[in-house]
Amino acid sequence: MVDTTGRVKEIQEKYKIIGRTEELRQIVLAHSVDKNILIEGEVGVGKTTLAKAIASFFDSDFYRVDCSEELLPHNLVGYFDPPLVISKGYTEDSYKYGPLALAMQNGGCLFINEINRMPESTQNSLLTSLDERILEIPKLKTINAHEDFFVVATQNPSAHVGVTVLGEALKDRFIWINLNYQSPEEEILIIKQEASLGSGNSDKVALLSQNIIQLTRESTSVRRGSSIRGAIDLATLINQYDNNNSSKNWVEAAVMALYNKIELEDGLTQSKKEVITNIVLAVLNKSDFQ
Ligand SMILES: Nc1ncnc2c1ncn2[C@@H]1O[C@H](COP(=O)(O)OP(=O)(O)OP(=O)(O)O)[C@@H](O)[C@H]1O
Ligand SMILES: [Mg+2]
Repeated sequence: MVDTTGRVKEIQEKYKIIGRTEELRQIVLAHSVDKNILIEGEVGVGKTTLAKAIASFFDSDFYRVDCSEELLPHNLVGYFDPPLVISKGYTEDSYKYGPLALAMQNGGCLFINEINRMPESTQNSLLTSLDERILEIPKLKTINAHEDFFVVATQNPSAHVGVTVLGEALKDRFIWINLNYQSPEEEILIIKQEASLGSGNSDKVALLSQNIIQLTRESTSVRRGSSIRGAIDLATLINQYDNNNSSKNWVEAAVMALYNKIELEDGLTQSKKEVITNIVLAVLNKSDFQ
């Protein structure tokens, strides 16, 4: 048995992760029994932050792959460089190792960001590496994974443009960790930390920023509300104004911070700017803001 509680605390402190105690406990547990980890959650819930912390905590070698529709199997596994093959043949020297082969060979963490953007053919090239821990490189060798090889992947559950459905076979090989929005109290701590709010009225700025993004998630005019990123951006911006007691400045900063981060419901008569303005004013009016 591993000391999960101790490790979770260590990870939180070392990587400045606020909360997520439950999820980190699940991740540490899955890692201790050599399982591949898939972290799923909406935009901005902290998937990459957790995955990077885990990878760095357990291992020094870190191989990152950011997925897109253009990511082909050879980008993951590796390929023979044609000019080198001509001069040296199919040898080790002519082979350019990809992140999967390197992580397996050297015993590192393969971090696959946004795995559901990976095309199906590329997904298939991962299958045997993930369960049998073997990677066949034709004309070169078979890699048996180092015992420290492990995989952390992230994915967004919503249907967005450019997202393929993760194949059943690949999904089957992962332990699932789900991230929801954190509590308002934890979000406020994250805002203070990430927006580098120093002294002054940082409590108030963080509280109002959190309340504003919270309301974007609850508003019936908004289909997709803002993640914590919106609040971090808003707090960072408003902190640059000479007067952050002005509702005009809050509205301006909120429109800048949130405009690209929220999606409105269809068929509204209000513009996005108006929706954001109303949300900000509703929050300011409810607080003791003057
Ligand atoms: N628990 C947390 N503790 C500290 N900072 C956090 C936490 N959760 C999120 N953050 C901060 O919130 C921001 C967004 O997090 P991150 O990039 O990890 O989200 P994500 O889920 O990977 O987003 P995306 O879906 O857009 O890739 C980062 O600035 C990160 O530092
Ligand atoms: Mg991410």
